[in-house]
Amino acid sequence: LDNGLALTPTMGWLHWERFMCNINCDKDPDNCISEKLYMQMADVMVKEGWKDAGYEYVCIDDCWPSHDRDAKGRLQADPRRFPGGIKKLADYVHSKGLKLGIYGDVGKNTCAGYPGSLGYYEVDAQTFADWGVDLLKFDGCYMNWTLLGEGYVNMSKALNKTGKSILYSCEWPLYEWPYQKVSDEHKEYLFRYNSLPDETIRLMLCYIKEHFCTSSFPVAGPGGWNDPDMLVIGNFGLSHDQQESQMALWAIMAAPLLMSNDLRNICPRSKKLLQNKLIIDISQDSLGKQGSLTGKFDSFEIWERPLSEKRLAAAVLNKQEIGGPRGFVIRAIPGWKMCDPKCNVTQILPEYKEMGVQTPKSNIVLSVNPSGTALLTITPLSSDFTEMYK
Ligand code: DGJ
Repeated sequence: LDNGLALTPTMGWLHWERFMCNINCDKDPDNCISEKLYMQMADVMVKEGWKDAGYEYVCIDDCWPSHDRDAKGRLQADPRRFPGGIKKLADYVHSKGLKLGIYGDVGKNTCAGYPGSLGYYEVDAQTFADWGVDLLKFDGCYMNWTLLGEGYVNMSKALNKTGKSILYSCEWPLYEWPYQKVSDEHKEYLFRYNSLPDETIRLMLCYIKEHFCTSSFPVAGPGGWNDPDMLVIGNFGLSHDQQESQMALWAIMAAPLLMSNDLRNICPRSKKLLQNKLIIDISQDSLGKQGSLTGKFDSFEIWERPLSEKRLAAAVLNKQEIGGPRGFVIRAIPGWKMCDPKCNVTQILPEYKEMGVQTPKSNIVLSVNPSGTALLTITPLSSDFTEMYK
């Protein structure tokens, strides 16, 4: 969609996976869904280098509204948890140089049972615009699936009608998938494809390739990206190797980098990984092409993404979860043919290493931990170029 938004995969923070529908502010004031949570996240994003690294959107998920609309039929934030209201929160987030995302649902209710937008698309779009909201995540609960498409398109039109730039993160394909394949029609929208990181690493790394990559990836590009869901790096569920795999694969898949973790209290290693400039550069590469699974053998998966200036990013994932580190011969990467006559290789994960100029016959072996990933960039060198540097 050519509206100047989402030219590269969206980067930011979203509350759902870490904070879910915790509305108990009496007992858990620091972790409940309240304006304080987003203000604190915005503060940390500025102070701790997240904003400088490119993370821009602070996003509210389900459970923010009051159960009742106001007298004019408009959504309103729960007054106890958001005493200042969403407009004030948006002003605060903007004062930090960041953007605010909000959450709604195409159906009668949100998944957690709060008011949905069905019958109120224009009212709600205008309310979000009046508040100064910059992104809308639009869920698909409580809706007859045959009306999903119409609902998502109508909300898109309603957002456009406000005249404000609101990035549309819609879950249309996720909810339509059980009934029919993702179609080109979805290309007009920045979409969520499925919600895996709530699940295990096994699901995250297996299921994704079957559906996500084979069906929907050709339609991704500047303006709309496939979204395999939140980054859960820095939470409780993944080993560090698995965290590296998630970061590498999300960069290769040109997926939005929407973290759902507690930035106020995150271990330095996860923080360093999430702020790794070389990985973020792959994610945000100006060519805007999504990568894909290109090879599979001996429990290794190879994922490749073409980058600008004819470069290539390659991730080698060791899917064997038991045992120790396993070796992978670098020239077995399908895109290695671009190393003819020579190329320059940089390893980014598991640690930064300049591997220097390589040829088609290179014997270098990568060491990849169980459920971990080696991430590389490969830059072809023309014979003229290599002549010059002989
Ligand atoms: C389902 C979505 O997939 C999740 O990301 C989250 O938004 C919940 N709904 C909220 O109820």
